[in-house]
Amino acid sequence: MQALPGFRDFLPDDCAVRNYIFACWREVARRYGFVEWDGPVLEPTELYKKKSGAEIVDQLFNFTDKGEREVAMRPELTPTLARVVAAHEREFKKPLKWFSIGQFFRYEKQQRGRLREHFQLNCDIIGETNLAADIELVALCIDILRTFGFTEKDFVVRISDRDFWIDFLRENDVSPDRWDELLQAIDKSGRETREKTTEKLGTLADPIFSILKGGGKSQKLDQLVDGLRDRGLADYVAIDVGIVRGLAYYTGIVFEVFDRAGRFRAIAGGGRYDNLIAQLSDGAVSLPALGFAMGDVVLRELINETAHAREKLETAIAQSRKIDVYVVIAKEQRRPDALAKIQQLRDGGYRVDYPLTSEKIGKQFQTAEQLGARVAVLFGDEWPQVKVKNLATREESLVHHAELLAHLQA
Ligand code: HAM
Repeated sequence: MQALPGFRDFLPDDCAVRNYIFACWREVARRYGFVEWDGPVLEPTELYKKKSGAEIVDQLFNFTDKGEREVAMRPELTPTLARVVAAHEREFKKPLKWFSIGQFFRYEKQQRGRLREHFQLNCDIIGETNLAADIELVALCIDILRTFGFTEKDFVVRISDRDFWIDFLRENDVSPDRWDELLQAIDKSGRETREKTTEKLGTLADPIFSILKGGGKSQKLDQLVDGLRDRGLADYVAIDVGIVRGLAYYTGIVFEVFDRAGRFRAIAGGGRYDNLIAQLSDGAVSLPALGFAMGDVVLRELINETAHAREKLETAIAQSRKIDVYVVIAKEQRRPDALAKIQQLRDGGYRVDYPLTSEKIGKQFQTAEQLGARVAVLFGDEWPQVKVKNLATREESLVHHAELLAHLQA
């Protein structure tokens, strides 16, 4: 029996990478003053049908539960966030700066960088219309990737503004009920053939292609880049009006992050969704909002292929796996004394391991080395003293067992 297509087993090495990614995500989000929250993994299917757009609804893992409810495994967090914020809005001072780390499910065609489950970091700011919030959010996204060891040579944040295209569609007398469909066609234009996009865009194809080629102008985007330049982060961004995002609820500034070499699909994506909370709460609560999500799948691949990021990960994982003390039981009659001491050491916060059954001393020292132990403590003929060996310097000392904790601390 194998895992289902697009689902992963996390063996210890994979879990170590996952923990490392989560730890970096969490650390930088906190550096920016974001607080952690989470929602349920199962939601009413209706929540996604309302505003996420056709593409994601087609990819839902959904079913009818035993209580005849139509439910779906969450494909993304933003609709849940909008629901939760609308319900608890009065309890919090605005703007809210919330982050979350969780697993998401989309029935996608499995390919490099795209699976049927993935983890995302979501960072969202609720209740702020000022461009300062957009700048802060993009800066956070950049700093997260810098923390993994990436530089401006490794990735780029492509920023765009949906309002730019809405203005264009208005000027060309396109009725609002076609906007979504045309925005989706522009979004896909980079991934689809020119013929297919032309078919979708009709008479607007030529002017749209020439804008995409020449790069559109937008004052708001220039201001955003200026804001990032003030922080020394301008080299990480590029204006690219070809980005409009696949999800239907975005309203203004949107962005996606790609590896510079263009080998992978997006690492992260997000933008403003100023109307979603009002739409999902039938107008009961109206709050501007913006956010982004970064996935773990492409991120892992990019770390793997970028030497400095991979070294950083390997060092962090090796460090996190090391134990402090390996207890060598040289005489089996000392085992009860050793176990009592192991208990004390573990109570004291030390990471301690030992052989569960009788083993040759040489083999025990070998295990101590393999586990990266700082010291080995040998329980043998010297009792009530124990032999403490510093495995890095090879120095040995005899210590009375009652003094062991104090000795290790020193
Ligand atoms: P999204 O662009 O659909 O945005 O997903 C964000 C990121 O999740 C993608 O850039 C990608 O790295 C990862 N991702 C998405 N689908 C998959 C998949 N099937 N396999 C592997 N990775 C995947 C959203 O989900 C928005 N809700 C983000 C947001 C938050 N907007 C505002 N706040």
